[in-house]
Amino acid sequence: MKDKYAVVGNPVGHSKSPLIHASFAAQTKQNIEYGKIEAGIDDFEACVRRFFAQPGNKGLNVTVPFKERAYAMCEHLSERASLAEAVNTLYLDQKGELHGDNTDGAGLVRDLTVNHGIKLKGLRVLVLGAGGAVKGVLLPVMQQEPAELVVCNRTVIKAEALVSRLQHLGHIRSSAFDALEGSFDVIINGTSASLGGALPAISNSVVCPATVVYDMMYSPDKTVFNQWALDAGAADAIDGLGMLIEQAAEAFMIWRGVRPATHALTVQLRGQ
Ligand code: ATR
Repeated sequence: MKDKYAVVGNPVGHSKSPLIHASFAAQTKQNIEYGKIEAGIDDFEACVRRFFAQPGNKGLNVTVPFKERAYAMCEHLSERASLAEAVNTLYLDQKGELHGDNTDGAGLVRDLTVNHGIKLKGLRVLVLGAGGAVKGVLLPVMQQEPAELVVCNRTVIKAEALVSRLQHLGHIRSSAFDALEGSFDVIINGTSASLGGALPAISNSVVCPATVVYDMMYSPDKTVFNQWALDAGAADAIDGLGMLIEQAAEAFMIWRGVRPATHALTVQLRGQ
């Protein structure tokens, strides 16, 4: 019998996870099935329990809007899931207890550092936003030991709350958009502004010719944010396709113990 996995969300029809994991399984010769499950808004927890009650069902990816509810269900959490207060990867241990991890930040960091060769260590890094997407990535970014990490949010108090939990890891502070000073080596956009084609109210002065920007959103066309950064003189602007594929690769490794290669798949999905 094949081990079974799925992504659960609402809506989930657009999810690329089945395609990504099928490609990883073929590449690594793992005999698995990976489907998608649309859980009713009131039915998420019951849906997860039904899934894991079936023999052979081994793991779930969790997407919008259920990552915080998945976190709340887990009996065991990784440190990064615990800090993110959100879970995107679920599995059971031998005792049948539910484990939660969050691979989003690892996906972002791997895409930046391995695929794009941008080591964050010693760099001045700016993160825009303080919602769920940003909360999921701050610990893995801080673990790269940037010289300074500034978390900037329209509602500054939300950025303050996030950075206060990571002070012990190094130089991290919050800022309002109009209080940003100097330029940054790397700027990561984790606001949801791009989704609606909007731009955060940010000054061009944060960009210098060496700046690389990363929009966590993935889009076949340049995101509004990435276009703004290139117009402001940034060296490069990367979107979130690599992060999407790398967070999946990290989940696949947790479940199957093997890390799939991602380059060919990234090229394939970019071409679609
Ligand atoms: P997600 O889970 O995608 O992070 P979220 O938790 O609703 O979604 O957070 C959205 C983030 O995008 C917030 O940081 C929000 O800023 P506020 O906390 O001030 O609301 C930010 N955001 C959304 N639209 C924005 C805009 N037009 N300009 C700047 N920030 C924006």
